[in-house]
Amino acid sequence: MNNQLNRVIEALPAIAWMATAEGGIDFFNQRWYDYTGLELEHDQRRGLEAAVHTEDLSRLVQSRQTTAPSELVHELEIRLKRFDGVYRWFLLTLCTLPATTDLAWIRCGICTDIDDRKRAEAALAECRQHHLSYIARTDFERTQSEDTLNKMRSELAHMTRVASLDTLTASIAHEVNQPLSGIITNASTCLRMLVADPPNINGALETARRTIRDGNRAANVISRLRTLFSKNVVNVEAVDLNESTREVLALTCSELQRNDITTHLDLADNLPRVPSDRVQLQQVILNLLLNACEAMIDIDDRPRLLLIRTGHDTHHVRLEVRDAGCGVEPGDLEKIFDAFYTTKQVGMGMGLSISRSIIESYNGQLSATRNDGHGATFWFALPRQSSCEPTPASPPHLTMTFQ
Ligand SMILES: Nc1ncnc2c1ncn2[C@@H]1O[C@H](COP(=O)(O)OP(=O)(O)OP(=O)(O)O)[C@@H](O)[C@H]1O
Ligand SMILES: [Mg+2]
Repeated sequence: MNNQLNRVIEALPAIAWMATAEGGIDFFNQRWYDYTGLELEHDQRRGLEAAVHTEDLSRLVQSRQTTAPSELVHELEIRLKRFDGVYRWFLLTLCTLPATTDLAWIRCGICTDIDDRKRAEAALAECRQHHLSYIARTDFERTQSEDTLNKMRSELAHMTRVASLDTLTASIAHEVNQPLSGIITNASTCLRMLVADPPNINGALETARRTIRDGNRAANVISRLRTLFSKNVVNVEAVDLNESTREVLALTCSELQRNDITTHLDLADNLPRVPSDRVQLQQVILNLLLNACEAMIDIDDRPRLLLIRTGHDTHHVRLEVRDAGCGVEPGDLEKIFDAFYTTKQVGMGMGLSISRSIIESYNGQLSATRNDGHGATFWFALPRQSSCEPTPASPPHLTMTFQ
């Protein structure tokens, strides 16, 4: 029986040992000596400590102290020094056999080589760490490049807005001059009424009120200009496209009038808002209006008609600008959206390209189609704000004509 037992213990694919009640080692199987290269007589008394890595010693000692006789199995990972000085990881499984009437309790155990597993785990952890830092880095780089892209887009958009200012100077001057001359006329009338004998107080009050109204009109034009031409930062909010269209028209109506353009407005009721930057959308509308205006400048054989229409379906809000101008050749319908593509002598060729990039940044679409008759229709569709209330009803299908 003892021989059989010995054969089994020697055949175990692990280092096996048995400790004395005092803590010394009673027995090691041959694998211990083969692995450590230690001598039987010389090192047996020192037990496992003879080969345990100094960094793992305290854990081994501590485990012996905390492993009470009642705790039957206890596991610990330690490094054992091989005969050639190399340390390998082992799983130390301690087993405590309770005392019987004849025998004191004994502790025995096995040490299984887990070095390959530990290396694989470490490699995996390193791989995972690389992967995580790669994800974090690419995430960071993506955010950085998105930021740069947004900044570039907003700077370019600002440039093209400032370029439009040049075109609009005359009509803006007109917009401001009108209320200013009203103010001067009313203020002089007011003075006359006050110095009259008897003074016309009611008349003076009324003209003073008109002066204030004109002052507000001029201030409004200036404040619209300031928002449209000075702003360079993006601010996403729930935008009412009808309102934005009206504001852009307030700045361009003199330009449209000056060029004999008849403008019809067909703004849908209860138009859902779109999550976007109000000034950016106004810039898109402005670009489309100026293009439409420029496309009709040389048209003399038919009315110069401009239609601005808004509408929506279950998912999108749409705005279209339809003109009766020179139109776009079928082969150019996409080319016109390229940056720097222009057929105009003083054009930059940036208006449509910037506009498309703005609309696409809000997951929308900007396109052009040829009209059945003359001219072209430029339209964009933007995802509607889901959780937002529709805008209050505007006058039903308001149609305004400027001429
Ligand atoms: N409504 C339109 N009808 C016909 N052609 C148009 C219309 N809108 C744009 N185009 C064509 O597309 C080209 C590009 O338009 P885009 O607005 O990008 O640049 P641009 O008007 O030439 O210059 P800018 O950068 O100053 O706006 C125009 O030069 C014109 O040939
Ligand atoms: Mg343009």
